[in-house]
Amino acid sequence: MLKLDFHLAGRHFLQIPGPSPVPDRILRAISYPTIDHRGPEFGELGLKVLAGIKQIFKTQQPVVIYPASGTGAWEAALSNTLSPGDAVLMFETGHFATLWKKMAEKLGLKPEFLGLPGIEGWRRGVQPQMIEERLRADTQHAIKAVCVVHNETSTGVTSDIAAVRRAIDAAGHPALLLVDTISGLACADYRHDEWGVDVSVSGSQKGLMLPPGISFNAISPKAMAANQHAKLPRSFWDWTEIVEMNKSGYWPYTPNTNLLYGLSEALDMILGEGLDKVFARHERLAEATRRAVRAWGLEIQCADPSVYSPVLTGVMTPEGVDADAVRKLIYERFDMSLGTGLGKVKGRMFRIGHLGDCNDLTLLATLAGCEMGLRLAGVPLRESGMPAAMEWLSEAPKTLGSKAA
Ligand SMILES: Cc1ncc(COP(=O)(O)O)c(C=O)c1O
Repeated sequence: MLKLDFHLAGRHFLQIPGPSPVPDRILRAISYPTIDHRGPEFGELGLKVLAGIKQIFKTQQPVVIYPASGTGAWEAALSNTLSPGDAVLMFETGHFATLWKKMAEKLGLKPEFLGLPGIEGWRRGVQPQMIEERLRADTQHAIKAVCVVHNETSTGVTSDIAAVRRAIDAAGHPALLLVDTISGLACADYRHDEWGVDVSVSGSQKGLMLPPGISFNAISPKAMAANQHAKLPRSFWDWTEIVEMNKSGYWPYTPNTNLLYGLSEALDMILGEGLDKVFARHERLAEATRRAVRAWGLEIQCADPSVYSPVLTGVMTPEGVDADAVRKLIYERFDMSLGTGLGKVKGRMFRIGHLGDCNDLTLLATLAGCEMGLRLAGVPLRESGMPAAMEWLSEAPKTLGSKAA
């Protein structure tokens, strides 16, 4: 039976790369009484969150909000735009790209998985020139969509989506561009319209600082047109009726009212701070983390500094050290959760989340917990990472992201 009668002093450190800690302000908003989802107040709430979320995706186009986790929004993106047997080009960036590809197979699509050998793709992210070459070879335009993950949460690599758009355009190929920014949105810069993304997929439990439970599709006019002749079966996920009813702030089914209160609060917080400041904050914390990891003498999972993730840092443990045993020790001794290695890198790395409601001192405590745990687990560290992180955090101005440094 679940033991609920415990009390641990202080807050649990939820330093996984999502769900991220939910700020008290958002938790309070979620606790407002549930209202009639067909009543007048609800319409106001609906219109507010639908307008606000567009600013986060940087789009003028419709954004659909589902009462579902990110996986649901993946399925919505595929089933609204494609037909059984359609070829789709996907890129192996890590565990989540792999899961999306498996979903495409289950739905009856024909995904082709481009990638670098071994786990190189899991360390370097999307290679736009490979996409361009493959599309150039597809002279018959059999490939109907290119699907890529913006921030690969399993590795800590943030791929260059604008470069993927340029690659598709350079090949003169009409494929749709579908992007998973489930963990990138509201942490790293993201521009649905400017980058010519056709469907952007995201979720609530990462940069938006909400609990899991709502997810999004931002939809280009080209994707909306594809919806008209896409033959994959869909009912709940179909955009048409939702977009129509959203015009007045309502949904065709019962929406997740209390999470929408939370979304409204999160939008006030993020847009109040300003997206550029939010991104700089993430970059700054990520750089502090990488400085600590380098001081420890450990390797960062992302091998290309131009695509370092501002959301999380993957830390590779030395040969023979089980990263999950280190995580377990840290959880038991210091009440902190870190992300596990997924798929091909299981046991070889752990992930430090530094997204959402995280500040300088939250991060320093997180790094201290990691360092103590690594030492207790007998992992040889070159030196303490704390001075390097503290120096960066005390000297780098708040407005400075690592890429600006
Ligand atoms: C990049 C990415 N894609 C997809 C998913 C799946 O989303 P969910 O677990 O909310 O269904 C996740 C979850 O962590 C993710 O990080």
